Amino acid sequence: MMGTNKNIFASKVGAILAAAGSAVGLGNVWRFPTEVGSNGGAAFILIYVLFMLVLGVPIMVTEFAIGRYGGSDVTDAFQKMGGGCRGWKWMGLVPVVSGFLILSYYAVVAGWTLYYAYEALIGGFSGKTPEAFTNDFVAFSSDSLQPVFWMALIIAMTCGIVALGVQKGIERGAKIMMPLLFIFILVLVGCSLTLPNASLGLKFLFQPDFSKVTSSVILSAMGQAFFSLSVGLGCLCTYACYFRKDIDLMKDGLSVASIDTLVALFSGLIIFPAVYSIPGLQPDAGPSLVFITLPNVFQQVFGDIPWLAYLFSLIFYLLLVMAALTSSISMLEMSAAYFNKNLRMSRPMAAVVVSLVCLVLGTFCSLSFGDWKDVTLFDMGFFDLFDFLVAKLIMPIGGMLMCIFLGWVVDEKVLCAELTNNGTIRSPLYPTYRFIIRYLAPLCIFLIFANELGLFG
Ligand code: ALA
Repeated sequence: MMGTNKNIFASKVGAILAAAGSAVGLGNVWRFPTEVGSNGGAAFILIYVLFMLVLGVPIMVTEFAIGRYGGSDVTDAFQKMGGGCRGWKWMGLVPVVSGFLILSYYAVVAGWTLYYAYEALIGGFSGKTPEAFTNDFVAFSSDSLQPVFWMALIIAMTCGIVALGVQKGIERGAKIMMPLLFIFILVLVGCSLTLPNASLGLKFLFQPDFSKVTSSVILSAMGQAFFSLSVGLGCLCTYACYFRKDIDLMKDGLSVASIDTLVALFSGLIIFPAVYSIPGLQPDAGPSLVFITLPNVFQQVFGDIPWLAYLFSLIFYLLLVMAALTSSISMLEMSAAYFNKNLRMSRPMAAVVVSLVCLVLGTFCSLSFGDWKDVTLFDMGFFDLFDFLVAKLIMPIGGMLMCIFLGWVVDEKVLCAELTNNGTIRSPLYPTYRFIIRYLAPLCIFLIFANELGLFG
């Protein structure tokens, strides 16, 4: 009976929230404002939303279809969907390896957010000068021990939730954290919109200036859509192995993408009005926007009302921690599920083993901001190397291969049956979806990939 199997999400809402939790993460609250800031604002957002719709959602549905059809773990899912051919099982190993790589560097930044939440909690931002915010961030991120400690804490929290299982850990975690995350966002948006000069931030976000659109802006928007939805990596494929058979995969794909896009836009509504409220600050501060510019802004704009500065900072960094955590859970699950099902480890043991490996690799990534900044491979420190491997190689290639696999290799009857729940639901978008995964998506992904590798000069 549905819902009694502990290895599937008990409810449809739980499944959507878990998938949305995997998608919504630092990519929405940290990377999105950074990309919007550096790529000129509203025009970038419009292009990003377009890519979410025409590429992000179809590739997400592709991952959902493969995962749910397989039902067990991603490697089995690929083999089953490929008509039982063992060779396809190897393709399912991509998510297993990606899980290690992405969590190892994602946890570094997630650890920074946890440290900032702690600093906010103990009132550590109060009275700091703008210079102190910059110096403290540089000193913290390049330290050999502190960031590793906070990263280890985030990994331990992630491990604890994954070890509890699909329903008691992942689903319950998503059901608690996602609604809280939405409440925090709405509170912060409300506060941010009342700041002086908020309208300048809104203008930056919503008044497009197409003269700023270059090929690099278009490709960055596409890359951001992929990163934000976690498509191509196998996170969503892994979660879809736990989906019930009565879930409408297309509808849920649209719901998850809508939630993800809304959270990104709301993050912009929090951050840009805040940045514009202090004369002289610019929205294109890059990755340090969230760790240097914003805490400084919170202190300055709410300087007269210290408790408001305290509360705003605390809620903002807690929001970041929860966003990071719901994503890191799906990253750990990708590898842990494989160890659990294929290497006969118990779920807690699999979660611990993967966590320990990520802790070691993550330490290398963290050290690349400090003591090991001169240790490079292919001219990149560990953090940049892992980011390059995941975001610039595995995501585009993985996404492209999944589309080609489902669009060209898998029997169309199998795909159609999976997306219509064996003909029990209507799927009017199916022909468009199939066109996209056969032609449009592979071509576009090839273009991102080629651009990322600098093949266009
Ligand atoms: N999709 C995840 C995020 O946005 C990776 O952080």
